Amino acid sequence: MTQSSVLSPQSSFATAPGKIILFGEHAVVYGRPAIAAPVTQVRATAVVEDSATPGVRLRAPDLGRDYWLEAAAEDDPFARAGRAVAEAAGRRLPDLVITVQSTIPIASGLGSGAAMAAAVIRALARHLGASHLAEDEQVSALTYEVEKLLHGTPSGIDNTVVAFERPVYFVRRQPQNLIETFQVATPLHLLVADTGQASATGLVVGDVRRQWQAEPARFEALFDGCGRVAEAARPAIEQGEVERLGRLMAENQAYLQEMTVSSPELERLIAAALAAGALGAKLSGAGRGGNMITLIRPEQEAAVREALLAAGARSVLATVLR
Ligand code: PMV
Repeated sequence: MTQSSVLSPQSSFATAPGKIILFGEHAVVYGRPAIAAPVTQVRATAVVEDSATPGVRLRAPDLGRDYWLEAAAEDDPFARAGRAVAEAAGRRLPDLVITVQSTIPIASGLGSGAAMAAAVIRALARHLGASHLAEDEQVSALTYEVEKLLHGTPSGIDNTVVAFERPVYFVRRQPQNLIETFQVATPLHLLVADTGQASATGLVVGDVRRQWQAEPARFEALFDGCGRVAEAARPAIEQGEVERLGRLMAENQAYLQEMTVSSPELERLIAAALAAGALGAKLSGAGRGGNMITLIRPEQEAAVREALLAAGARSVLATVLR
């Protein structure tokens, strides 16, 4: 079934993928390099349709939300996305219905908020005929504005990955972030397992900040450690050194533990994956719940998946980084 057969001509459509952080979460907020990749099996979708009813109606059935942009709070993410596109396009929004749906688990470190915002922004830009705003770089920049509402001090890596839909080596810096794509020599087989515990990125990022303020030297050293791991991981990915990548995941996880962002549930899943023979495992995203990732050889998939489910994983998703 093609898009055009299900949508009326007055509709516009866009999607954005989930994402995982392979190396460098948290430290990336403090200017250290990080590596992230899209997870294309789970996606957010936005449909923008012309409406005969005045106003801009926002529908997010998965979140149980149906409301009007005009009446939405300043810090409402979808309303912010709509207003950001209108401002950038230099025009008022016409009467519309915007519907957002997503198969990306919420509050799990897979970037669902960024993906939903990116899908709305791209679909709306297309609908307004503002094609320059539907380009990856602009979608990323506008999604960043929404991420600021959700997280306070986002590094910019989530919006970059979901907008560009490519693995990226990312460094937050002024006046412009460093965003580099790279070659993956050998496909990397990963399982992404959900602890089932919600993880509020803004709270965890804020708590890391408080700890950094209380003990700057110790936290700077931890961030440096994460940055070195991400720097070493890039050539390992480019040269297909999977065992080395597994060891680097363990090293990164040790730094994240020191930052107190792991949790007993994450540790249980990580231990189960490693006991089943995985090459490496770590939390991914903000931590204290959400998802962990594990690097495996393709033939290990069934055994590691079973071990993760037996250790309490709510769901296990397979993804290949190429
Ligand atoms: O929990 P997520 O998927 O939103 O990932 C957050 C990643 C952090 O590095 C913890 C924060 C950031 O803005 O980069």
